Amino acid sequence: MKPFVVSRKSIPSGIVTLSGDKSIAHRAIILSAIAAGKTELSNFPVHQDSLATINVFRKLGVNIIHHNAKVQVCGNGFSGFCKPKQPIFVNNSGTTLRLSAGVLASCDFESTLVAADSLKLRPMKRITEPLRLMGAEISARQVGQDEYPPLTIIGKRLKGITYTLPVASAQVKSALLLAGLNADGLTQIIEPLPTRDHTERMLKLFRVKIKSGDKKISLAGKQKLISPGKIFIPGDISSAAFFIVWAAVLPGARIRIEKVSLNPTRIKIISLLQQMKADIKVIKSVQIGDNEPMGDILVKGGKLKGIEVASEDIPLIVDELPILMVAASLAYGKTILHGVGELRVKETDRVNSMVENLRKMGSDIQVEQSQAQEDILIDGCGRLSGASVKSYADHRTAMSMIIAGLCASGRTSVDDVSCIKKSFPDFIEKAKNLLADTNF
Ligand code: S3P
Repeated sequence: MKPFVVSRKSIPSGIVTLSGDKSIAHRAIILSAIAAGKTELSNFPVHQDSLATINVFRKLGVNIIHHNAKVQVCGNGFSGFCKPKQPIFVNNSGTTLRLSAGVLASCDFESTLVAADSLKLRPMKRITEPLRLMGAEISARQVGQDEYPPLTIIGKRLKGITYTLPVASAQVKSALLLAGLNADGLTQIIEPLPTRDHTERMLKLFRVKIKSGDKKISLAGKQKLISPGKIFIPGDISSAAFFIVWAAVLPGARIRIEKVSLNPTRIKIISLLQQMKADIKVIKSVQIGDNEPMGDILVKGGKLKGIEVASEDIPLIVDELPILMVAASLAYGKTILHGVGELRVKETDRVNSMVENLRKMGSDIQVEQSQAQEDILIDGCGRLSGASVKSYADHRTAMSMIIAGLCASGRTSVDDVSCIKKSFPDFIEKAKNLLADTNF
């Protein structure tokens, strides 16, 4: 693969619309597959991760017709799933693997979920342990104290549990709620900190009675899901974050991102950038019922200043941390990001990938250990210099470094950007469209 070279030739301006949110898309496929009848999804994002979830449910016998951004799912309830003929490949999608394991734990057959390169190295004990407490039979590859893919699951009759999550993780919460949906009795999850609530919202949309509040989510098992018929998936705010930062740090830039998700558990990145003095306006559209809120985001370029981010906020910006580190490097003054340890178990160790890369571009960035947690300290001086950096085969590192290169002086080359297809295959094309000079 040839390195991808960028430099700051002009500033972004214009209107951009984005494919549907990745997290919402996974849940839309899964719940439509569990519900009886037809559900039509629009603005569905076509990328490696969402296709991995479609693949799982097709292999379980669900009829899924997929044409560009439109998907039709004909579900038949938990009892409609059939034993897959072969192990199911989930590629590098952690959300597909963890949420599907929650569904399969109560299905009356044996199945194996096989992962690709980076996902093979991601810890799974966080789901296998609580699922076993519910009665699931799961075997995994044991390395040291943790467990890793592949996972082999022999479906069992499950019982609801009350479980306090040791790490704030929407994937783990969702896996347990999906298992609880087909379990006997009540499943209650207690979160140490709030995480994205798409599973709870979408369960409500499918008329499941679910209680949430005060960090506790509970649902009774064996409820019937009733499809809303049609679901529009709002634009992906984590993808939008790359363009928001790009425009926010370059004076004169002006962009509008339309129909993007404004779920309150996902927009912390906007309020933090506003705290950094970014000129961002949010225009909310009308929200109907329990559906996901969405709207337009207007960004104008200016000068940013450093801020301190509390560890309580980290789960709400977990996917935006790499691009926030770019913003902090291009801001003036000190930024401290407290409690970023979870970044080490994403598609790559994103503490390492971002610190190594941003240092090469001249950022004053340090990692510090404080009270058994890791913090990142960035002393921004308003600029970065072009350098030769690496994606570490991680989509969010790659896109963050392309944005860093588009804001830096000189040339930046990113070694391999093919990993972008995991979540945002048309990222480069959309970025080019925002530049008057389309010559990157
Ligand atoms: C996701 C939750 C987050 C996030 C991931 C998507 C989800 O992971 O990093 O990209 O859709 O539930 P964790 O729950 O492991 O933090």
